[in-house]
Amino acid sequence: MDLGYQGRRVLVIGASTGIGFATASLLVAEGAEVMIASRDAAGIAAAAARIGAEGGRTPATAVADITQEGAADRLLADAAARLGGLDALVDAVGGSIRSPFEALTDADWLGNYQFNVLSAVRAVRAALPLLRQGQAPAIVLLGAAASRMPYPNQIVSNVHKAGLLGLTKTLAGEYAAEGIRVNCVAPGRTLTRLWQDRAEKLAAERGVAAAEVIAEFSHEIPIGRFATAEEVAVMVVWLLSPRAAYVTGQTVNVDGGIARGLL
Ligand SMILES: NC(=O)c1ccc[n+]([C@@H]2O[C@H](COP(=O)([O-])OP(=O)(O)OC[C@H]3O[C@@H](n4cnc5c(N)ncnc54)[C@H](OP(=O)(O)O)[C@@H]3O)[C@@H](O)[C@H]2O)c1
Repeated sequence: MDLGYQGRRVLVIGASTGIGFATASLLVAEGAEVMIASRDAAGIAAAAARIGAEGGRTPATAVADITQEGAADRLLADAAARLGGLDALVDAVGGSIRSPFEALTDADWLGNYQFNVLSAVRAVRAALPLLRQGQAPAIVLLGAAASRMPYPNQIVSNVHKAGLLGLTKTLAGEYAAEGIRVNCVAPGRTLTRLWQDRAEKLAAERGVAAAEVIAEFSHEIPIGRFATAEEVAVMVVWLLSPRAAYVTGQTVNVDGGIARGLL
């Protein structure tokens, strides 16, 4: 199936590693013109070089901390200048804090809100004027299966990732008439740096190997293992493509069956 990415101009935020990186890599392989961004200059340069070495075009890069005020506006202006416009946006920035409710401070709540929600709001707001001029414009945000099945000990991201369900549905309704689609991909447990760091921390606390922690957290996943970043990225790339022209406002779980609710 040709997904229609030849010449399609895409910005992926949070793409030096993990799901963002896998998404950018697949997009380049599909023929898209891609720009990737994250906070660490060396990390994003290395990611671009890795994608180039895989045989596709080396993506353009930008260094940005998307949680900072003004960063999204600067990044989107840069992307438009370097790509000659914009057809699609992926925001893969976000994460959780593992903590019991009463140990969390206001600063924890506000920081994680900026990380998961406000950064996406700002990126979408800065992208809309560009997407209006683009071809088959589309946005994909990264949520979490936790928005449909809250995880114990992760109340902050349970709340904020659930907020992305509302953001996605509302934006989709508001911009459908202009031809702009907005969807969200909700990963379950995915073996990226995020989970590797978490597994190592839990392993150190318990005095066991990180592999044991991963095995333990795999038990309650019906498919019996963590996802790879590529398995999640495939859904991002499909939803972002012109082939998904009639799909908008959806949050699609890619979670190995872990969220057991009907909706
Ligand atoms: N992995 C999972 O199990 C899982 C489960 C549910 C949901 N998700 C969601 O899926 C998305 C991607 O997760 P992941 O596992 O791929 O994460 P990851 O491995 O931690 O990678 C995150 C990427 O975002 C960049 N980044 C982090 N903070 C940033 C900021 N403030 N501004 C710009 N870039 C930033 C990181 O690079 P720098 O550090 O260099 O900036 C990195 O490239 C997140 O929204 C996450 O909440 C993941």
